[in-house]
Amino acid sequence: MAFHHSFHGRTYGALSATGQAKFWDGFAPMLPGIHFAEFNNLDSVAEKVTDKTCAILVEPIQGEGGVNPGHADFFQGLRELADERGCLLILDEIQCGLGRTGKLFAHEWFDITPDILCAAKPIAGGLPLGAILLSEKAAAAIKPGNHGTTFGGGPLATAAGRYVFNKIRRPEFLAAVIEKGARLRAGLHQVHLMQPVVTAVRGMGLMAGADVSCAPQAVIDACRERGLLVCKAGEKAIRFVPPLIVSETEIDEALNIFSQAIRQAGQKEG
Ligand SMILES: Cc1ncc(COP(=O)(O)O)c(C=O)c1O
Repeated sequence: MAFHHSFHGRTYGALSATGQAKFWDGFAPMLPGIHFAEFNNLDSVAEKVTDKTCAILVEPIQGEGGVNPGHADFFQGLRELADERGCLLILDEIQCGLGRTGKLFAHEWFDITPDILCAAKPIAGGLPLGAILLSEKAAAAIKPGNHGTTFGGGPLATAAGRYVFNKIRRPEFLAAVIEKGARLRAGLHQVHLMQPVVTAVRGMGLMAGADVSCAPQAVIDACRERGLLVCKAGEKAIRFVPPLIVSETEIDEALNIFSQAIRQAGQKEG
């Protein structure tokens, strides 16, 4: 079981579980047997989970899908449902984990424990590395060496991973992410209040999205011309995922540029 608007990656299994048909273009047929439910809608999941369901795979915050934060009660409901119906709860924290929301892992905000957790992106400070964490129950089904990957777990990337992980998990580092994230969102809300082209602001920690009513690419281009790199998520969100070591001054500068870019894109539309 996976979710509409999810994104789990470009390898075949992960792509098949990605609930956005645009990513399947040219790669079909996708793996069968994966059903998609509505994110943040427990009834829609409960309807589709059967005794054949092996797992529920979900991002605590949908990243590529438009920066859609999960609701705590939805995630607590998923945990209960998975336990009741005997399937695993797998959290894809590849984008939202490892400090991005101001907790080491985003699901800590929901007060739940997954059976399997996937982490990657920032884990080795830019070197390619991913990790999968399993509960004892899930781990009992596989053994070291069952599976491998040519470049996975090499000494250079794992040494970097160890260093980065020990930095990120420090309470003062995570507290700074919460503060800087609040600053970023407050600034985006301000732009939203001043400029009707921005129709909504969402996010957690240093992962934020601002929906725009104009063409997102126009805003992205205008930001880039001024030195700010942002990208599109979903159909109409501009996504902000700055480095976790971003400074307050840089956040203010980014907000300034975004505000100018929105004005420029809005004028072109008008
Ligand atoms: C939530 C999520 N899962 C997984 C991935 C991994 O994607 P890939 O397989 O392309 O490295 C990404 C990358 O953007 C992601 O955002």
